Amino acid sequence: MQTETQAAAPLVHPSWTALESLLHAATLAPSPDNNQPWLFESRSDGELLLLHDRTRALPSDVDDMFSMIALGAALENLCLAAGQRGWRALVSYSKEFGPDAEGREVVAAVRFAEGGVADPLASFLEQRCCNRKPYPRRPVSEESLYQIEASVSALDNSHLHWLSARPSIRKLAGIVAAADRIRFEHRPFHTELFHQLRFTPQEAESTRDGLDVRCLELPLGAATMLRWLRHWPLMRQLNRLGLSRLMSFPSALQVWRTGTMGLLTTTDTSRLGYLQAGRAMQRVWLAATKLGLAFHPLGSVPIFLSLWTRRGGKDLLPHHRRRVEDLAGRFEKLFPQAVGQGVVVLFRMGEADGGSVRSLREPARLHERVAIR
Ligand SMILES: Cc1cc2nc3c(=O)[nH]c(=O)nc-3n(C[C@H](O)[C@H](O)[C@H](O)COP(=O)(O)O)c2cc1C
Repeated sequence: MQTETQAAAPLVHPSWTALESLLHAATLAPSPDNNQPWLFESRSDGELLLLHDRTRALPSDVDDMFSMIALGAALENLCLAAGQRGWRALVSYSKEFGPDAEGREVVAAVRFAEGGVADPLASFLEQRCCNRKPYPRRPVSEESLYQIEASVSALDNSHLHWLSARPSIRKLAGIVAAADRIRFEHRPFHTELFHQLRFTPQEAESTRDGLDVRCLELPLGAATMLRWLRHWPLMRQLNRLGLSRLMSFPSALQVWRTGTMGLLTTTDTSRLGYLQAGRAMQRVWLAATKLGLAFHPLGSVPIFLSLWTRRGGKDLLPHHRRRVEDLAGRFEKLFPQAVGQGVVVLFRMGEADGGSVRSLREPARLHERVAIR
C-alpha cells in the first residue's frame, strides 16, 4: 500500500452507524452505465477497504479505466463525508493491483483520524447527478470555470480543458457522433448496452443498477423503438439502411447545442492514475453542481481513444479501426494541449432544467473481516 497521508491525530474507529453513512455517501458516486463496481470491507481494526468488483466491470472498459474512475469518485465521496464528521480520511493506495480468486481487487484502504474539516463540496453529494437534458448555447462564465478548476488545482496529474468556440464545438459534435455510431454497430457494445438498460420502473427498482431509460431523456417513442433493437440481427439489418448514423444524431445534437464542453485528462495513465483522476472528476462534477451547473459525461470518445492509444485498435473491426484513427486525429487537433495524456472524461456542462428521474443505487455491499497483522 502506498500511503497518501500520514496520521498525526488519534485514529477513529467508526461505529456501525457512522460506517453506514460513509458508505451511503460513497455509493452516491457516478459510474459508467450505473454499474456500481465497488465493494467494501470493514476490518476489526477500523480500516475500511475499497475493492473493485470485477464481476460488475463493463466489457467495453479498456484496462478497467472506467471502473477505476468510478472507484475514485466513490473514494472522493468517502473522504468528503469523513470531513463532514470532523474526521480526516487517511488513504493508502494499492501498489500492485490484481484480483483475488473471487475477482475482487483491493484498490485503496482508508483509516480515519481526528482533525478533519468539512469541504464545502461535501454538501452537494446527494444533489450531484447526470443531467442529459438539452443545455443552452450560452457558454459557462469564466468565473465559474475558474472556480471549477480551483476544485482540482491541488491534484497534480489532472488537467481540465475547455471548448466554447462554436466552430470547435461543431467539430466535437461530429467526433461524438462518429464514436457513438461505432458503438451501435459493434455487437459486443450492443450486448453491453442492452444488458445495462432498464425498460420499466419495476425493472430499475428490482436491480437498483443500470440505466433506467427514463434517465436518458429520449424523444417520445424512442424507448419503445429501443426495445425492438435489443435483437442484434434486426439492429444489424437496420444499420445497413443507416440506423446507426441516425441513432448517433441525438448525442451530436446535444453537443452541438451546448455552450461549454469540458475535457478532463491525466498525465498518469496507470490504474492508480485513473483512480486518482476519478477523484478529480468527482470534485469537478461537485463543483459544477455547487454552481448550479448540469453535467453530462460522454463515454464513447474516451472508450475509442483508449482502444486506439492503449491497444492500437486491435479489438476493433478493420473499417471501425480506420474511423477511430480518423476521429483520434480530429480530436488531437481540437485539444492539442492534451496530446499524450489519458482522456478521463469528456463532458457537457451548462445551466439546464433538472433531469426527469434519478438513477438508483444498491445498498453498499459490505464485508466484515477480523484484521490479522
Ligand atoms: C466513467 C463514466 C462514463 C460515463 N459515460 C456516460 C455516457 O457515455 N453517457 C451518459 O449519458 N452517461 C455517462 N455516465 C454517467 C453515468 O451513466 C451515471 O453517472 C450513472 O448512471 C449514475 O447516475 P448519476 O450520475 O445520475 O448518479 C458516465 C459516468 C462515468 C463515471
